[in-house]
Amino acid sequence: MPSVSVCFSPILFPLFKNDDAVVVVVDVLRATSAIVTGFDHGVNVMVAVAGIEETLSYKDKGYLVAGERNGEMQEGFDFGNSPFSYKPEVVKGRNVAISTTNGTQAVVAAKDSHKLFIGAFLNISALCKRILNENRDVIVLCAGWKNKFNLEDTLFAGALAEKLAGNGYLLNCDSALAAIELWKNAKPDVNAFLATSSHRNRLKHLDLEADIKYCLTLDLCKSVPELEAGVLVWKD
Ligand code: MLT
Repeated sequence: MPSVSVCFSPILFPLFKNDDAVVVVVDVLRATSAIVTGFDHGVNVMVAVAGIEETLSYKDKGYLVAGERNGEMQEGFDFGNSPFSYKPEVVKGRNVAISTTNGTQAVVAAKDSHKLFIGAFLNISALCKRILNENRDVIVLCAGWKNKFNLEDTLFAGALAEKLAGNGYLLNCDSALAAIELWKNAKPDVNAFLATSSHRNRLKHLDLEADIKYCLTLDLCKSVPELEAGVLVWKD
């Protein structure tokens, strides 16, 4: 049977090297939640970019450009990183270039993986189904915060690992076991569990409580974006 591992930070990702594995990149608050929402609302393709200048250069190619640093939208961008910016009337049929503090950095770090999916609580069941079709080892790559551990991505990793273990996937990675234990404690009230966590509070101070609540909702979306030839697509 395939196994599921959890990598708590992009900086640790080289230690998990497995050329045949499916990698799930997660940045619950908020990059991967925004990406999943974008595809559900009709985005055509998305490019995850590391740098601000490179992202802005996509404007000349007709892309919408989205992004933030430390949670705040940057000058020259069409929108920041709120999933609520990806309204169908804004994004349907459009290409989007996105650069964020952590989420897109994690996508770039894992871009050479056999297969890369975008995960969030919003698409967790659709994602799990898609992963089961692959029947390969899975590495959940938590974007974290500037290469440090974060709680919300770990909870998502635990939730996904628990689902996969329920389908027979092996758990031979201590970080997957730890993530599942945290998820078991958190799942009765994830928002309350995260009350004192750092990025939740950063976003709260930016008056983004609605974003947090939305990003912690299970299964609102059905898209499972994946990386193909360097761009994110959703093959419905
Ligand atoms: C990130 O990529 O670091 C986050 O999505 C930051 C944010 O919430 O805007």
